[in-house]
Amino acid sequence: MNGASHAGGAARLEVAISHKDFAAADGRPRRVLENFELTLAAGAAGAVVGPSGCGKTTLLRIIAGLDRAFSGRVSLPEHGRLGMVFQEPRLLPWRNVEDNLRIAAPQASEEEIAALLLKLELDEHRKHFPGELSLGLARRAAVARALAAKPALLLLDEPFVSLDAPLAKELRGELAELIEEQQMTTLIVTHDVREAIELADEIFLLSARPARVCASLSVREPRQRLSKQAADALEAQARAALDAIPRR
Ligand SMILES: Nc1ncnc2c1ncn2[C@@H]1O[C@H](COP(=O)(O)OP(=O)(O)O)[C@@H](O)[C@H]1O
Ligand SMILES: [Mg+2]
Repeated sequence: MNGASHAGGAARLEVAISHKDFAAADGRPRRVLENFELTLAAGAAGAVVGPSGCGKTTLLRIIAGLDRAFSGRVSLPEHGRLGMVFQEPRLLPWRNVEDNLRIAAPQASEEEIAALLLKLELDEHRKHFPGELSLGLARRAAVARALAAKPALLLLDEPFVSLDAPLAKELRGELAELIEEQQMTTLIVTHDVREAIELADEIFLLSARPARVCASLSVREPRQRLSKQAADALEAQARAALDAIPRR
């Protein structure tokens, strides 16, 4: 560790990573994040958009406290639980869907679990084991599991990647509703600009590795209140900002 600190209790999520290096195969340090700064108000949804391999998963792991070998500081929005949806669903294979939720959230009532399963259209799959689920259903189960613990901060790593477009759209809509209802601080990592626009209040556009935030955009009427016209305009703005990021 290199002067890293991880604190709770701030009014917002604050990330200030001066650098994060991994050792490359030849043993030399490979810089993944540099001068990475991001703040997100408590209760807001942020989306981090960046190219593949730029350091997005590394960023989420640092925020989640799973990787403390970085130089800089991360302050979480408030004391409370953290929910994480990984790129792969990572369900317990020997437990059925509802037990995966119960184990992750022992304090959740049966009514709460039933309501979440219903909301994410998993009701008829509650007794199924992860090996019996399609990728789309497993992703739903992973989102339900993260939400069952009522996290103060929800982190999602490319939650809809490799789903077909209509299914991704449906799940995005469900997630947008949940973000709106539960008002938890949420940070979604994606490489899809449109997905970011449809889910977030604030969008952070990253450079290639080593990643830093090069531009940010606010969505004034987010999620269900977002018109197609406004989404198209934001997408054009985001693409112009991404094109202006110098390639390294
Ligand atoms: N544990 C690790 N050891 C060495 N290099 C790593 C490790 N994890 C990630 N990397 C490297 O860090 C870079 C960023 O990875 P990652 O954060 O997974 O990117 P993204 O999620 O944006 O696709 C990549 O070049 C990757 O190879
Ligand atoms: Mg990743």
